[in-house]
Amino acid sequence: MINHIVIAIDGYSSCGKSTLAKALAKKLHFVYVDSGAMYRAVALYFLRNKINLQDNEAVSDALKKIHLNFHSRDYETHITLNDEEVSAEIRQMPVSESVSMVSALHDVRKEMVKQQQRMGRSKNIVMDGRDIGTAVFPDATVKIFMTADPKVRAERRFKELAPKNPDITLEEVFENLAHRDYQDTTRKESPLIRAEDAIVLDNTDLTPDEQLLFALSKVEPFLV
Ligand code: DC
Repeated sequence: MINHIVIAIDGYSSCGKSTLAKALAKKLHFVYVDSGAMYRAVALYFLRNKINLQDNEAVSDALKKIHLNFHSRDYETHITLNDEEVSAEIRQMPVSESVSMVSALHDVRKEMVKQQQRMGRSKNIVMDGRDIGTAVFPDATVKIFMTADPKVRAERRFKELAPKNPDITLEEVFENLAHRDYQDTTRKESPLIRAEDAIVLDNTDLTPDEQLLFALSKVEPFLV
């Protein structure tokens, strides 16, 4: 039974989920949790330590050695992996390319969901991801399912990545997004699907301010 407000934002990769989640958290003074950053940090640990994803024992041993922490400054995601700040490294292509496989693993999801539920147990929270409204907080106060045209999403992500990755191409980004959409929606463990009671928000033609106003209008009835 939830006696505080939980806003669950799910949707495809690069749909602007974190932009909306951060803006909502800032406006409402809620805690913001980027659940994707957690899967990315796990993927980074697995890459660095060459964990064989087929080896369940190696995966579960590795999970015991991973300690994640969020440090919220200005509602930006600052995540530490065993006390090392990895917020920038988890956005790089090697992690983006392996994270879908890592996040499809049962043991990984079980551990992350447990930690996410703990974070939302007593605080007003905005959490974004793929399974927040379906698996992590099925009783969330407001559920938003975000979508946008795949070309527009790739262009947005490309603009974000290009300054720090001069060799990257728009095609590569588009392919990576298409691949992640496919993996996220077809995986066996908690695939990305819209919760029946989620409100759909297609932001292809919306500005960040317009999508914030839309989301606020859905949350306002629950604010006392
Ligand atoms: O939101 P993002 O692109 O940073 O997420 C990284 C990956 O983690 C993405 O491929 C899907 C996965 N993910 C997930 O399976 N469940 C979540 N709640 C959040 C992210």
